[in-house]
Amino acid sequence: DFYQPANLVLKGCKVLITAGPTREPIDPVRFITNRSSGKMGYAVAAAARDLGAEVTLVSGPVQLSAPHQVKRIAVETAQQMLDACQTAVQEADIFIATAAVADYTPVNVATEKIKKSTPTLSLALTKTTDILATLSLANPQLFSVGFAAETHDLLSYARSKLERKGLKMIAANLVGEGKAFDQDQNALEVIWQDGSTSLPEMDKQRLAQELMHLISTHYQTWKQQDG
Ligand code: CTP
Ligand code: CA
Repeated sequence: DFYQPANLVLKGCKVLITAGPTREPIDPVRFITNRSSGKMGYAVAAAARDLGAEVTLVSGPVQLSAPHQVKRIAVETAQQMLDACQTAVQEADIFIATAAVADYTPVNVATEKIKKSTPTLSLALTKTTDILATLSLANPQLFSVGFAAETHDLLSYARSKLERKGLKMIAANLVGEGKAFDQDQNALEVIWQDGSTSLPEMDKQRLAQELMHLISTHYQTWKQQDG
């Protein structure tokens, strides 16, 4: 946490970040979630703060304390994350979606604990709203950055997400087989409309700093072109 005034390139800029997993309830004692630790998102929040930005972090349940000077809004479900973001986005200049949002949520939440009465049990699930796509497509004045977690065909899937969700940039990483989720290190392919770059495996703090540097550079260029 070392401040150099000359590096405060995002001073006066508001950055909204989602982080962590979401938790989709099945009944009063059970939920569906994923292996996201929130480490990458929290590191991105700290890195944005270090560039002088005013940072709001909408976070699912994680075992991390809020970075100093970052406003954290704690949520559980994908719907709650969407609601919190829709309010916060009205003020935001940059939106960075690092959260591992559940893609599906139970159609019905049982009001009482489900008993093990049957030999098999099926859960009906319905798609959640894509927070990143929704906010990005509805707010063209917003500089939206996504993440893409893939087990294979990283670059082609990431590029299609960049297009489909109307993003300015996307940071893609391989997941599974001990990669990314719940790890202290990660590597990213950062992709934009007419280019890309590789950030090699390093600890998530440094990786987040490198990523925020790229984001702030592209943001400044885009803002100048856009007027
Ligand atoms: N995302 C989101 N809301 C969702 C699902 C995803 O905001 N309901 C965001 C993530 O935070 C990430 C990006 O969308 O920035 C891509 O997430 P990812 O899971 O890689 O892609 P999906 O679009 O969900 O597609 P799939 O999981 O099928 O690959
Ligand atoms: Ca997904």
